Amino acid sequence: MFEKFAQLPADPILGLMAAFRTDTNPHKVDLGVGVYKDPTGNTPVLSAVKLAEQVCLDEETTKAYIGPAGDAGFNDAMTTVVFGAEALATQDDRIRTVQTPGGCGALRMAGELIKRALPNATMWVSDPTWAYHTPLFEGAGLTLKTYPYFDAQNGTVRFDDMMECLNQVKAGDVVLFHGCCHNPTGVDLSNAQWDEVVQLATKSEFLPFVDLAYQGFGDGLNEDAYGVRALAAQVPEMIVAVSCSKNFGLYRERTGAVMLVSPSSESANAALSQQLNIIRGNYSMPPAHGAAIVRIILADPKLREDWQTELKLMRDRIRDLRVLFADKMQQRGVERDFSFITRQKGMFSFLGISEQQVERLRTEYSIYIAPPSRINIAGINDANVDYLADAIASVL
Ligand SMILES: Cc1ncc(COP(=O)(O)O)c(C=O)c1O
Repeated sequence: MFEKFAQLPADPILGLMAAFRTDTNPHKVDLGVGVYKDPTGNTPVLSAVKLAEQVCLDEETTKAYIGPAGDAGFNDAMTTVVFGAEALATQDDRIRTVQTPGGCGALRMAGELIKRALPNATMWVSDPTWAYHTPLFEGAGLTLKTYPYFDAQNGTVRFDDMMECLNQVKAGDVVLFHGCCHNPTGVDLSNAQWDEVVQLATKSEFLPFVDLAYQGFGDGLNEDAYGVRALAAQVPEMIVAVSCSKNFGLYRERTGAVMLVSPSSESANAALSQQLNIIRGNYSMPPAHGAAIVRIILADPKLREDWQTELKLMRDRIRDLRVLFADKMQQRGVERDFSFITRQKGMFSFLGISEQQVERLRTEYSIYIAPPSRINIAGINDANVDYLADAIASVL
């Protein structure tokens, strides 16, 4: 059987990571892979996480199975982080949360749930969207189509075009939104635009699906959940896929959740039973460690405060780097105006340079950028920003 296989090309981002690792240029810069980095280029373990791990180690009394829904304490606490305590009180017990292996696990399991309920549904994703949405949802058997989203000329949202397209989406289709910090463009909907989306979703009866992978990386934990909460307050049903990879720095612990909002408590229980059945027939149960850490942090007022302080530090650093980078480009006197970078949110932005220029940055300067020209802002630091700005100015 194995002889039938042709060798596949390396995954574009993982291939970039591997090439960066073996590059011997001492000035090399990694702006490719989507992980937060501190000023020294390290992706740190948050101190709240370290402390919670110690508690976990001391308190853990068994390694017995935790079941397909995962850690109940984690599920409850994360539901509150996402929907907010006040909103939850008025939701009439309509939300069911299941712990998953990372945000990817949540996206895939929810995709399979959609396929089970709506086998002919089309899923509408933004143009562009995170590259892995395609294999995750197509792997679940869904058909994907795009709606207009990114205005490359102005670095903003093509909101009118987007709304015109979503107006045509038929009831029973699914529309995927990025909750905040759009990956790969960094361009988010304003609160007023979210309100219009909510109105449309209520009227059109498509199923809203929000991918919330960067809560706390944009404007704050509550601010970044504006869209999710505005939708949940109005629509009868929706799905949210959550990742704790970035905001808790738990990348390799594979910690996330899928949250199902249903019209009633009864339908919520039925949807939950289907989701658990899908999980049982797939990876069976999620890993325990990451969710235990999150549960411990969120249950302890001091650890929770420490975590929020560290999250704010990451958020503020990214925002400052956006300003620093745009200033450095302006100082280089390049014709192109890079100030759009300062108005975007989260770790990513499109530089808006050609594929050849991206290639030249890699081969001539050892600067690694994900195609077509997505940069991870957190990969910039005081030590590399001038080298980076000089190199970009020279290829432009
Ligand atoms: C838009 C988006 N969704 C979901 C994820 C899932 O992340 P993970 O599976 O690592 O939690 C990511 C990670 O980069 C992402 O960028």
